[in-house]
Amino acid sequence: MKISIRSLTVLCISFLCLFSADATVKPFDVRRHLCTVTRYDMSRDTSNVASFSSAIPDGCEAIHLNLVARHGTRSPTKRRIKELDKLATRLAALVEEANRECSSEAPKIPGWIQKWESPWKGRVKGGELTDMGEQELYRLALRVKDRFPDIFNRDYHPDIYPIKATQVPRAAASAVAFGTGLFSGKGTLGPGQNRAFSVVSESLASDVLLRFNKICTTYKDYKESEKPEVEELKAPIIEDITSALISRHHLNFKRQDIASLWFLCKQQASLLNITDQACGLFNETEILLLEWTDDLEVFLLKGYGKSINYWMGVPLLRDIFQTMQEAIQANEENQPGGMYERAQLQFAHAETIIPFGCLLGLFLDRDEYEKIQRAEPLDLPPKPPQKRNWRGSLISPFAGNNMLVLYQCGSRQTDQNISYHIQVLHNEVPVSLLACGTDFCPFEVFKERVVDPLLKHKFDSICDVKNAVRDVVVEVPKPCSWSVNSYNS
Ligand SMILES: *[C@@H]1O[C@H](CO)[C@@H](O)[C@H](O)[C@H]1NC(C)=O
Ligand SMILES: *[C@@H]1O[C@H](CO)[C@@H](O)[C@H](O)[C@H]1NC(C)=O
Ligand SMILES: *[C@@H]1O[C@H](CO)[C@@H](O)[C@H](O)[C@H]1NC(C)=O
Repeated sequence: MKISIRSLTVLCISFLCLFSADATVKPFDVRRHLCTVTRYDMSRDTSNVASFSSAIPDGCEAIHLNLVARHGTRSPTKRRIKELDKLATRLAALVEEANRECSSEAPKIPGWIQKWESPWKGRVKGGELTDMGEQELYRLALRVKDRFPDIFNRDYHPDIYPIKATQVPRAAASAVAFGTGLFSGKGTLGPGQNRAFSVVSESLASDVLLRFNKICTTYKDYKESEKPEVEELKAPIIEDITSALISRHHLNFKRQDIASLWFLCKQQASLLNITDQACGLFNETEILLLEWTDDLEVFLLKGYGKSINYWMGVPLLRDIFQTMQEAIQANEENQPGGMYERAQLQFAHAETIIPFGCLLGLFLDRDEYEKIQRAEPLDLPPKPPQKRNWRGSLISPFAGNNMLVLYQCGSRQTDQNISYHIQVLHNEVPVSLLACGTDFCPFEVFKERVVDPLLKHKFDSICDVKNAVRDVVVEVPKPCSWSVNSYNS
């Protein structure tokens, strides 16, 4: 009897092991390895939900929230649609060539290639938010509203819940999808009791807060000059995979074909849920290497690879910090009905949220963080199968986001000392700031260790903003007069 109980226990324990091992090592799914083309649900599915700990002490209440989100899943852009049209022509030619030269190999050519047409063929417009992209932002809003009732329980007013987007339609549409979710049931419009809300955009020519990468001359020059180096880093991987695919599929691929097929794989898997066509040409090892080449590019052109990539985001961090300071002040002044800004909701691009995450010191280990503090360059993310923190699919999937939630701890009624804390959520999961050593960072510590040291990077001087831009900015009416010039001071 005893023995059988024991063996039962052993059995249970091994079951547990089996179970937890399963939970951490998920079966390979290409849809989680698409760098910044990864869908939000696939990305969240990967991040370790178990590490989700809401360590908010008793007596603390969220009083203000800043959201900076990337637009949701979008269609390929016009340029990419053209690339796919070319690929269709190329594939047809390759199949014909193979059939002509050696018809006995024809059966080895994947069936779908034989008569593939781009699903976007003939489309002259691209880059718009897809239905799935709308859902991503809409559902994000429902979760955020549920999670922070103290913040979203006020009546709508554009100054209490300002919603901003870049002047790019997919970002603006993302803002609308989010707002629709956030305010559904709170209005008078239609069966969903929706309500109207405003989304404001800064002109693209002067959007120093959300579209700084398009204004910062130093950055644009760096990006152009770095591109050949990025291609050089990718080349040996693409070359190896090209040879492997030639012998595997008996088609005479060139390097450009492989690059286009990887692009097609990402689009098919992310937008169409098709993983057995273009993605099926590659094996798992190859996909992990292709993902790594994409991650290298994001690292070098948008991330920690070069300090200008994220220093140009300092105005955004500064603006966000200011909204929190103002919220604290309004809170201290005890304004009637708590009528002050509760949440600033902003919708932009990978080129916005990646630098912003870097300014917060996310996705680094302690050594790397210290290097960044000393303004030393980081090593490139290591090649698979080595592990790396830097993964575009986690850092900036479609609808990827960062939230800075401001908490007030203690209450005036009970005469306790009031203190303020910040929690950072990356894709809705609390992250520990290395600068603070905790995911519930005292406001003063956040100011001293994260914000203040960065303020020395003045946008105008590090970006070498041309006079042309400054002229545009000067014409922008109040309340936008914070723009470029004020960072000169
Ligand atoms: C995938 O293909 C590569 C050649 O590109 C080969 O070296 C590798 O062993 C293959 N991996 C798997 C898991 O089949
Ligand atoms: C995508 O395909 C998988 C099977 O490969 C299926 O389980 C899943 O439901 C599909 N998802 C969508 C959104 O169609
Ligand atoms: C409030 O802060 C002061 C000074 O930091 C401290 O002496 C006092 O004990 C605190 N009071 C409470 C109720 O925590």
